[in-house]
This record gives sequence, C-alpha cells and structure tokens, in this order.
Amino acid sequence: MYVLGIETSCDDTCCAVLKDDRQILSSVVSSQVDFHRKYGGVVPEVASRKHLELLPWVTQEALSRAKIGLETMDLIAVTMGPGLMGSLLMGTCWAKSLALCFNVPIVGVNHLEGHLFAAYLEHQNLAPPFVALIASGGHTELIAVKEWGTYHLLGRTRDDAAGEAFDKIAKFLGLGYPGGPIIDLLSQEGNPSRFVFKAGFEDEDNFEFSFSGLKTAVIRAYQSLEIGPGDIKDLIASFQESVVRVLTKKTIFAAKKLNFKKIVVGGGVAANRALRKRLQEEAQKEGLEVYLPSKSFCTDNAAMVAACGYFHFVRNPQRYFSVKTLEPDPKLGI
Ligand code: KG4
Ligand code: ZN
Repeated sequence: MYVLGIETSCDDTCCAVLKDDRQILSSVVSSQVDFHRKYGGVVPEVASRKHLELLPWVTQEALSRAKIGLETMDLIAVTMGPGLMGSLLMGTCWAKSLALCFNVPIVGVNHLEGHLFAAYLEHQNLAPPFVALIASGGHTELIAVKEWGTYHLLGRTRDDAAGEAFDKIAKFLGLGYPGGPIIDLLSQEGNPSRFVFKAGFEDEDNFEFSFSGLKTAVIRAYQSLEIGPGDIKDLIASFQESVVRVLTKKTIFAAKKLNFKKIVVGGGVAANRALRKRLQEEAQKEGLEVYLPSKSFCTDNAAMVAACGYFHFVRNPQRYFSVKTLEPDPKLGI
C-alpha cells in the first residue's frame, strides 16, 4: 500500500511517500524559516501563503524522489490539527483536492500523534506500553500510551511550550530564529552551571510543566549583568540545562510512577543534543529504555503523518474517511 503524507500544521511544508507502515520512499520538508526569520517567529498569514505556494512543488518532489505517480497512491494522510488554522487549511484543502481528483481515500491525522509515530517509523521493536514526551514549539506533553491509538494525557505545560522558551529567549538575545538549534549549538561552548535556573513545577512530583517564569528569569539575569560574549553562552547553556533537567526528571518520574519500562520522545526539542544524552543516561540508571527518532524526524515531517494515517486506516477505514467531513481543528487534543 502506498501512502502520501502531507503536513502543514505550522511553518514547514512537508510531503512524504510511504510504502506500507514504515518504508519511507521519500520525505521532503521545505522550511519557511528564511521567510519568518526577520519577524523573529512564525507569522501565520505568511505561513499560509507560503504553504499554498510550496505544496505543489513539495508534492511533486516527494513523488519524483519516490519514482511514483499520484494515480498509484492508496491513501492520503494529512495533518488536521492541532496547529495554525490557516496552515492546516492549506494542507487539508490540498489533500482533499488530490483525493477527489485521483479518487483516493483520505485520513486526517493528529499532529501530536504523528510525532509519536516518528519513533514508530524507525524502531521496529517499539511496542507499548510506554510514556511519551512530546516537546515542540507549541506543545510540552507527557502521555501514557497503553497501546497505539489509545492515549492518556498525564500532564502538559501550563503556559509556554519548551520549544517556545528556546525561541523566545533566542529572539530576546538577538541570536536568531528558530532558537532551539541555535541555543543547542552555542550552549556547547557555555558553562551550564554558571547560573542556576529552574522551570516551574520542577520540584513537584506531578506531570505539569511551566516555562514562562524560566524565560523571564533568564531575561532578568541578562538585564542585570554586564554581559560579555562568553557570558551569553553561559547564560543560554544554563537555561538549556534547566529545560533538559525538568524534561528528563518528569519523564522518568512518569515512567516509574506508571511502572512502564519504555520512554518515547518526539517533537522538535527532542532533537536537542543535551536532552538526548541526559535522557539516555538517566533512563539507563533506572533500567528504562529510551526510543528517540533521528533528529530529522523529531522536527515536523510528513513521513510520521503518513505512518500514523496508515495505522488508523488499516485498523478502521471509516475514520475521517471522507473529503466532505474532514475539517481542520487547530485545537485538536490527543
Ligand atoms: O516539532 P516542531 O518542528 O514543530 C512544532 O510542532 O512546533 O518543533 C519546533 C520547535 C521549535 O521551537 C524549535 O526551536 C525547537 O523545536 N527545536 C529545538 C531543537 N531543534 C528544534 N529545541 C532545542 N534544541 C534543538 N536542537
Ligand atoms: Zn510538530
């Protein structure tokens, strides 16, 4: 079975071709970062217009890399939410048009569930139960997965998402956009113990997160110091350390509390070097296994959407199986 995946929930225009459940024939991601950089963040109106412009090209590129035509597709899987309404509308309208023209069934995919399927794509031996941490630009959630398709939200951020904190701090310090990869890189040369920062709820035995106060603390520390170039690296390394510490601590706490032996991580922040290393080290100490997608599948892509769509279609072909009923939902929960 051939599946065309389409993902446009935020500012990446993505298309992928998947054969059956895990064989990735192509995965194309066209980043819009260059168009949003000058604003220091995603401008929803610009993102929608760019999706409209890029979707035909990205789709054609994915098909040509997979050496396959649209008429061969058995299923179209498209992100239906959560995300930016305008961006979701572009992807779902495009997917519905293709489904109508080529008479192919269509399935709507939850973007957050898609991030879980990034690990599924690359780890054949991964089977629930597991605790999942999804940390991205819009979300920081801990989820209990008893089986694929059945999710229980344990807790989430009360304010900013982890990726959002990276982006906002980088923007404030004039480091560029998106902040996560820049802070990840620059932190390698900084001293993570120079400043002590703490994210909200870090010392509480629950599944909640808060990053807004942490962001303010980092900005205050910057404003109250005579800052030299070396200090900035120490400042952001210390900020990153506090994010890595709280994400690792809460995820391991959740796995132990539920007595699950596996941890799955997804979303753009899961590409962070320090987080990947710390999670693996700490999980090993507790006898837990960590399943991480490769970095390019942590951030938004359509292969994970195709894999998730395939899974639901094979199990239940009635689900969102109509161009008439499939509508984007910006606030869709997992
Ligand atoms: O999953 P994603 O591509 O899009 C959303 O669904 O939001 O995540 C993007 C977020 C951004 O906030 C970006 O700064 C962050 O992930 N990010 C990182 C890294 N790479 C991307 N954060 C920390 N370290 C990274 N290496
Ligand atoms: Zn995402």
